[in-house]
Amino acid sequence: MLPRVVVIFTFGQRRQHVERARWRGRRRGEWVKRSVGKKPGSALVVAREARSLSFVQAVRLRSPGGWADLVIEEEERPEPAETDVLIEVHAAALTRDELNWPVDRLPAIPSYEVSGIIAEVGAAVTGFEIGDGAYGLTGFERDGVAAEFAAIPADRLAHKPVSLSHVEASSLPLAGLSAMQGLFDHGRLEPGQRVLIHGGAGGVGSFAVQLAKVRGAHVIASAAGSRVSAAGELGSDEVIDHQEHDFTEVDPVDLVFDTVGGPRLARSPAVVRPGGRIVSVAERPPMGFGSEEGVESTFFIVEPNAHQLDELTRLADEGRLRVLVDSTFSLDRVKEAFQRLQSGNAVGKVVLTIHDD
Ligand SMILES: NC(=O)c1ccc[n+]([C@@H]2O[C@H](COP(=O)([O-])OP(=O)(O)OC[C@H]3O[C@@H](n4cnc5c(N)ncnc54)[C@H](OP(=O)(O)O)[C@@H]3O)[C@@H](O)[C@H]2O)c1
Repeated sequence: MLPRVVVIFTFGQRRQHVERARWRGRRRGEWVKRSVGKKPGSALVVAREARSLSFVQAVRLRSPGGWADLVIEEEERPEPAETDVLIEVHAAALTRDELNWPVDRLPAIPSYEVSGIIAEVGAAVTGFEIGDGAYGLTGFERDGVAAEFAAIPADRLAHKPVSLSHVEASSLPLAGLSAMQGLFDHGRLEPGQRVLIHGGAGGVGSFAVQLAKVRGAHVIASAAGSRVSAAGELGSDEVIDHQEHDFTEVDPVDLVFDTVGGPRLARSPAVVRPGGRIVSVAERPPMGFGSEEGVESTFFIVEPNAHQLDELTRLADEGRLRVLVDSTFSLDRVKEAFQRLQSGNAVGKVVLTIHDD
């Protein structure tokens, strides 16, 4: 008698296994049919339909800055290059000011954070298979992901955290990487240091609060309105309602991480100890900013980083990183989604849902 082989999966491995089983296929078109793929709407059927599609829906920004100029267009399904994957976009997260970014390559597809299922794999890609759940920050130099399908360089992606939905996973890359790079690469935050995070319940700030706590820092968040309680629930040691109190009255901090800009950034040198740092992701400080107080200041643009994305995946799957999702909108409601972001009332990320989870 043959020995019985028992395969034991952890919960996370089982989810990945099921996702893969649904989608198992050969590269570029030769699909291997599996029973789980037969149901209408199943991942395999969706993928086959995708292959038969010549055109997909995508959001296009026609002029910088204005959500009023967003249109939904039918366009040719993108073809992945050798180092790309084609991803069936399930969720695409938005950033409040992002419609100002692609000024030199309009009309552009917005949204640079994606979570979805891999539908096709370029010949030179390793590490991903058709059917894998993947998420990541795409580059700002090319079209974004507010579309039914997107071709993305595989090195911009990581396997999706199994404990998160696509909506939650899409909310993580741009904001989570900005927080990680701002606090640690640029801010050099060490355990035991004090950090003040402006916008502590915003897209970037909500991850910054949690990552700084994981690093063992003392975290002070500034926030307003319903974001005050949210910043506390994320684990901030202190929260300052900046509409009620002057944030410069807190004891000196080693680092200010600014996600807001304007007067809050301008007044920040007053709260940093000499030799401390200010890092902004929202606004470039003027030349010499903070030098009178002996404070170093930096602005940076977030960079895709698959290794750091893996670290965010690990923290999310260990339950140490919560994702604040404010609201979700279907692709055809993209204008409402940007209006919500710009209303000043959002708590966390606003996400477009494009294919069902
Ligand atoms: N340089 C880069 O690579 C990079 C990367 C990511 C994001 N960004 C930029 O960094 C900033 C933060 O991004 P985010 O996704 O965290 O933004 P967000 O969540 O929309 O806003 C961050 C904070 O700004 C305040 N705020 C919210 N809505 C506002 C509004 N309508 N007008 C003015 N202030 C408002 C809130 O802080 P309070 O509750 O404290 O008032 C909020 O928590 C944005 O400007 C974004 O474009 C830059």
